Amino acid sequence: MKKVFIKSYGCQMNHYDSERMLESLTPLAFQQTESVEEADMVILNTCHIREKAADKLFSDLGRLNQLKNRRQQQGHKTVLTVAGCVAQAEGEEIQKRAPYVDIVIGPQAYHRLPQILETPAYQNADEKISTLGVVDTEFPIESKFDHLPKNRSKTNVSAFLTIQEGCDKFCTFCVVPYTRGAESSRPVSDIVKEAQQLVSNGAQEIILLGQNVNAYHGIAEKNAESWGLARLLYELAEIDGLRRLRYTTSHPLDMGDDLIKAHGKIDVLMPYLHLPVQSGSNRILKLMNRRHNTNDYERVINQLRSIRPDIAVSSDFIVGFPGETDQDFKETLAFVNKIGYAQAFSFKYSARPGTPAATHDHQVDEIVKDRRLQELQALLDQQQHDFNQKIVGQIIPVLFEKTSRYDHQIQGRSPYMQLVHAIATNELIGHIRNVRVDLAHPHSLVGTLQPVSSGYTG
Ligand code: 5AD
Ligand code: SF4
Repeated sequence: MKKVFIKSYGCQMNHYDSERMLESLTPLAFQQTESVEEADMVILNTCHIREKAADKLFSDLGRLNQLKNRRQQQGHKTVLTVAGCVAQAEGEEIQKRAPYVDIVIGPQAYHRLPQILETPAYQNADEKISTLGVVDTEFPIESKFDHLPKNRSKTNVSAFLTIQEGCDKFCTFCVVPYTRGAESSRPVSDIVKEAQQLVSNGAQEIILLGQNVNAYHGIAEKNAESWGLARLLYELAEIDGLRRLRYTTSHPLDMGDDLIKAHGKIDVLMPYLHLPVQSGSNRILKLMNRRHNTNDYERVINQLRSIRPDIAVSSDFIVGFPGETDQDFKETLAFVNKIGYAQAFSFKYSARPGTPAATHDHQVDEIVKDRRLQELQALLDQQQHDFNQKIVGQIIPVLFEKTSRYDHQIQGRSPYMQLVHAIATNELIGHIRNVRVDLAHPHSLVGTLQPVSSGYTG
């Protein structure tokens, strides 16, 4: 058996892709290792969404080159692979700056990895492989999903399932439409089959993934119609043994009435929605080409709350977008106060090469961005803490996923996506159990396991 080490940066879709790449390497006798030192193949699955994420790649690569040289002196070769969105966007640059990288492969070409590894040069142990650089960053006509292994070999308690990739929205700050390409949806039956396999392999929860997941419009062979996300959710909810269903990441424009209604009708659809707004200023939303304003967003949230009053809402924010004034930023803070978030992610604007906003004249000073980020994060943390505080004393069903870093505790998620720690044995991992919440921290809850007979565990 050869060993493969994989590191995923960035979004959940990269984690999903990494799992699928590993599965595609199993027939070539590769086994996953947690130790990079012993790896015959190292894959870095990269993220290009912000500059920091991309910079990190080059510092990691420097260290890996040293490791590769050390291993070579001991007579072992190491195939160094860069995958993901940096590979897609900066393939040539990687080859120039890090010529010791053997394979550069874009997110739409992963299924060709086994083929590349089966070429004679990679098979021959004596070959000096640092001279064999392969760059595969095309957007192939065939879908990678048709060529990745059909069977999901293993799964987590909470499993990711990519149903849609790419984006046609072209927000002016975002690299996704360039790195992941045009919006494309997988056929319904492929998704249902994969979900069934995940559940029969032990998944209790499935998180449907897509850069613009609610733009989903896959073909249903049954009636040759195109299905939206709502219809797909109803279908997946029928799978026996599936306890929880979520989807991410959504765009406010694609929150149709049918999808909103589904939140009140589908039991296994959890009361949590990640719906990025990015800014609370309509002027900035326009410059971002978001194609929605704050009213549109608020309307969606109000509709959702009228159908599912306890729904936890999450978002992404960017501060310091080119041209953002103090007044715009104040409007963002006011909007956050108006909506009330259960949690949220916020980032400093990072100019991405090739995106329209990168060349905008009025870039915001880093110091101003820092100050705004701190202020926004303090407000969002406060809201998250308040949301968590409200749950103290309640009994909630927790899906336990793994051991906690605290002694004798295991951890899982509440229906609202909160991290929950409780004293319990590892046997409960993979199960949903009721927990009484005793304590709320800003980013997690601590609770006491309840006897199995204590009511609702859905
Ligand atoms: N700068 C900062 N944040 C960004 N995001 C996307 N592009 C950029 C950028 N250029 C953030 C958005 C998006 C999340 C995944 O990353 O908030 O929703
Ligand atoms: Fe990027 Fe999301 Fe905008 Fe698409 S909708 S361009 S993925 S931020």
